[in-house]
Formats: sequence, structure tokens, C-alpha cells
Amino acid sequence: MNELLRLRQLRLTHFRNYPTLDFPLSAPLTILVGENAQGKSNLLEAIFLLATLRSHRVSRDSDMVEEGHDLAEIQAQCFALDLRLVLPRQGRRRLSINGVSLTKQQEFLGHLQAVLFSSLDLDLVRGSPEIRRQWLDGILLQLEPLYWSVVQQYQQILRQRNALLKGIKLGHFRPDPTQMAAWNDQLAIAGTKVMRRRARLLLRLTPLAQRWHQNISGDRELLTLTYAPRHPVPTNDEPQAWQDAFLSHLEARTLAETQQGTTLVGPHRDDVQLHINAAPAREFGSQGQQRTLVLALKLAELELLETVHGHPPLLLLDDVFAELDLRRQQELLSAIAPRTQTLLTTTHLGTFDRRWLDNSAIFTVTQGTLAPL
Ligand SMILES: Nc1ncnc2c1ncn2[C@@H]1O[C@H](COP(=O)(O)OP(=O)(O)OP(=O)(O)O)[C@@H](O)[C@H]1O
Ligand SMILES: [Mg+2]
Repeated sequence: MNELLRLRQLRLTHFRNYPTLDFPLSAPLTILVGENAQGKSNLLEAIFLLATLRSHRVSRDSDMVEEGHDLAEIQAQCFALDLRLVLPRQGRRRLSINGVSLTKQQEFLGHLQAVLFSSLDLDLVRGSPEIRRQWLDGILLQLEPLYWSVVQQYQQILRQRNALLKGIKLGHFRPDPTQMAAWNDQLAIAGTKVMRRRARLLLRLTPLAQRWHQNISGDRELLTLTYAPRHPVPTNDEPQAWQDAFLSHLEARTLAETQQGTTLVGPHRDDVQLHINAAPAREFGSQGQQRTLVLALKLAELELLETVHGHPPLLLLDDVFAELDLRRQQELLSAIAPRTQTLLTTTHLGTFDRRWLDNSAIFTVTQGTLAPL
């Protein structure tokens, strides 16, 4: 048994195109090679779900259940822990650790950390703010499992407040300033918890991402990551000052909110601005610059999770090697310490350095089955 391995065994039942899979992991580097649509990304998705309880591809659990079946199950041996996650097509997830059922989802978090890097990640630069919020949240969940309930609480208040605003807009209820003030207070308290955590995370990620970015780009460019909420926030980390700023902005938007029937202020509208040499990366970055930026963000994420937890997270590289030029491939490889357990997918082994193939366990993936190469 390789003592360095965090994830030792993965079992899937009716998860996407895997009717059953029993996959013992034996090497620090596992390479999954296969043609398109065979199940390579599905397998990494299952592992990422164990680390964050979120899929990076879909928001509905039912999409991950094999067609024609009622529930999917993911089970993993992670150090001495047996993690089990059951995803019914309908109804609530069931989670257990070492056979003990958990009542709160957040209790499942914190045992396995993972950084996923896929070709979809270029959307961090090009895509909508929601993608950047999800990225921050995925890291926060792994740094601080309590963040799960912080987000749940905010979303619950937001849903109820939105229902109220919609009712007012449609003329079902009359506006009641006292009732609205109570909702505003609740939203500001819960929203501030989300916002301050995201802002603090960006402060921690920035110097790491800047250093990686300079290494990869050859010291020529300066990357900046800026927390960009919809309303001005204090420069200090004082909760009361954040709540006050939130509330005064809510009050200023009351009329617009009742007209539109939805909440316009809060962390559900946050963004992160990514700049290269003070120009927005989204508009002015070349393809290569955007790839360098995303790689720097991922390496910063890896480094931060390792620093906080004292051991490297699992690294899941989905089809990214082929898109990186030699310099970036080498930067990535040198950043992966031998103790970083890595799973990597590819359609071709041709682009890999021989030294990598020699120290890896290679499997071919064919229609939801794995076979050692
Ligand atoms: N819920 C589901 N039930 C059954 N099959 C599914 C389900 N969800 C996805 N699939 C199948 O999984 C396959 C896609 O798997 P995956 O995305 O892992 O491919 P891949 O090997 O990563 O391919 P590529 O190289 O194109 O990225 C498709 O054939 C799709 O039909
Ligand atoms: Mg894929």
C-alpha cells in the first residue's frame, strides 16, 4: 500500500455511464486514457463531488444518475475513512462516513481536498460572474466546511425575500416597511458572512497567483485579482461596517427591487475582476495569456489548500495537458510535488514526457469500464 495516497479506492454504482466501477488507486499519478465520451471526465467529477459536494458540470443530482436507474452511489476509501455519497434521482442526498449517517452535509466536507483543472476553466476568464463565484465557493468549502451552512442560510433568506418582492410586484401583497426592514437585516447579516469570506480568500490567493503567473509568463506581466461586489464595501474586515454598507445599499435600491421583483444587492451578484497589466483579461488577454492566468489561479488554489491543510490536495487534471505549451506543461509538472496524488485524463499519451509515464498507473477508459494498460 502506498502511504502517500489519500484516495485509495473509488467505487461507483450507476454514476453517469458507470454501471459499476471498483477502482483501486495504486500510484501517485494515475493516467486515464480514452477516446471522447468514454467516461474520463465523469470519473473526475465523482471525485470532485466527494471533495466539494458540488459538481463542476451540473447543478442537478439527477443528471449524474445513470439513465434508467433511481440512484447513484459514490464510495471512496480516503486514508482510513470510508466516504459514501448516495444521490437519488429524486429526494435528498444520503451521506455517511465509516457507515455512520450524517445529518448535515457540511460534516462530509473537510476529509478530502481536491483541485480540479479542466478545459472548462477558461470560463473563469471568459464566462459569467457566476463561474467565478462558484470557483471561490468551491475553495472556501474545502478551507472551511462551515461555509456550506453560511451559503445555505444566505440562499434561504434570499429565496424568501425574492418571493416577497415578487409578490409585491405582482400586487399580491402590499409593501410593509417594517417587514422589509427585518428581511433586510437578515439578508445583510447572512450576506456579509459570505462576502467577507470571499474577500479574505482573494487576499490570500492574490500573492500566490501573482507569483505563479510571473513564473509562467517569465516575469513580464502582473496579474491582479480584485473582489468586485455590486456595492462598495469597506476596506477593513469589520463585520459591522460591512453590514452597514450592505444595508444602506439595500435601502437605496428598494424602489428598483420592488419594481423588478427581485433582490439586486448581495453576494449572489458578486464578481472577481481579473487583470493582466491593468487591462481586463477577458477583453484584452490573448488565448495564451488567458490560459496562463487560469493555470496560475489553479496553482495558487493548490498551494493554499496545501498550506492550510498541511498536505497537498488531490489534483484532477481533465484534458488540460494537450492545451498547454511546453513551458506551461513544465511549470505545472514542477509544481506537482511527488507527494501530490494526481489523476489526469487524456485522449493521447503521445504528448507525455517518458519520465511521467514510467511512474504512473495507466488505465484505458472504454464506455464506463477501466482496464490497466
Ligand atoms: N446520467 C447518465 N447516464 C448515462 N450515461 C451518461 C450520463 N451522463 C453522461 N453519460 C455519458 O457519459 C459520456 C460522457 O462521459 P465523459 O464526459 O466522462 O467523457 P470523456 O471520456 O471525458 O470524453 P471527452 O474526451 O470528450 O472529454 C457520454 O457518452 C454520455 O452519454
Ligand atoms: Mg472529458
